[in-house]
Amino acid sequence: MPASQSSPDHLAGQTQPVFKPRIFSGIQPSGGLTLGNYLGALKRFVEKQDEGIETVYCLVDLHAITVWQDPAKLRQQTREAAAGFIAAGIDPARSILFNQSQVSAHAELGWIFNCVARMGWMSRMTQFKDKAGKNSENVSLGLFAYPSLMAADILVYQATMVPVGEDQKQHLELARDIAMKFNNDFGVNFFPIVEPIIEGAATRVMSLRDGTMKMSKSDPSDQSRINLTDDADTISKKIRKAKTDAEPLPDTVEALRDRPEARNLVNIYAALAGHTPAQVIADYAGAQFGTFKPALADLAVAKLSPITSEMSRLMKDPGEIDRILGEGADRADAIARPILDQVHDITGMIRSRGR
Ligand code: TYM
Repeated sequence: MPASQSSPDHLAGQTQPVFKPRIFSGIQPSGGLTLGNYLGALKRFVEKQDEGIETVYCLVDLHAITVWQDPAKLRQQTREAAAGFIAAGIDPARSILFNQSQVSAHAELGWIFNCVARMGWMSRMTQFKDKAGKNSENVSLGLFAYPSLMAADILVYQATMVPVGEDQKQHLELARDIAMKFNNDFGVNFFPIVEPIIEGAATRVMSLRDGTMKMSKSDPSDQSRINLTDDADTISKKIRKAKTDAEPLPDTVEALRDRPEARNLVNIYAALAGHTPAQVIADYAGAQFGTFKPALADLAVAKLSPITSEMSRLMKDPGEIDRILGEGADRADAIARPILDQVHDITGMIRSRGR
């Protein structure tokens, strides 16, 4: 019987060991990177790297295949996402950058977590419900188990902090639940209780066509999003055509509450400029969208164009990208493998090879 059932609070009084601060985060290479990925995640990955914390960043190709991926496109998208990371400022010498499938410890710990996580927990995941929709009998088993692999991604490095956009909050709560249940069941203080880092003006960038929907790489309308591969002209046109209401910008952030499209554009401006939404409102109170949209388009082009052109330069040498991912995978594996070995010891798996 697991320890959690025989003595639910047997860990009471034990203090959490001090884990080395380590950041882990991932992005699915299931399509091109969007402005949502950039502002909600990538830009903040770079900030964390520059703060000098150990950072491990992963292109989660095993997560991507929970829905069908064309193999050639998946390879291309993985390289393109890696190029996007580097172009946005991730330095492969300072951060570990790799694709998930090259470090098999993720999948191995993912299986163990499938045996820790409860069906009820997984069934409550809103992202699964949204993705599966009415088709839940016909989606892959991997899609259902997705958050358990995500917990393994983080915990196989004993990472303590995870920068993500707002939409990943529930998955990170589940990662905390899995870590707690594992620790509790085996009577150990082995996995840290990870801290989500969801901060900044753009933790949830919305569609340019509908301010109530998240900007997403899977939205059928390309007009709904800005892709990191869009050229300056396309970015400008998409912003100028973005849906808005007819009112000028208000003089308080609170007054944006029931104006989702206006609020979204203000938040995007703030995140790109490195300001707060209140500072943007202070500068543009009373402005019509005829003034604000061109200013936002110019700012977006100024910030994103250098990334886009660096990405296309890097994509000319796919061999070099693969080399960087391979080297990152070696470094990631060197951290993950000994942690997984300890998990095997804790869970009672015999490890006798090479003895
Ligand atoms: P994914 O690939 O959907 O998104 C990658 C990151 O981008 C953020 N994001 C957004 N942020 C703000 N506004 C948006 N419109 C927007 N769209 C996406 C996401 O919140 C995320 O931070 N399950 C994860 C990938 C993953 C992962 C992990 C993340 C796998 N393992 C371990 C952290 C730790 C996902 O599907 O992200």
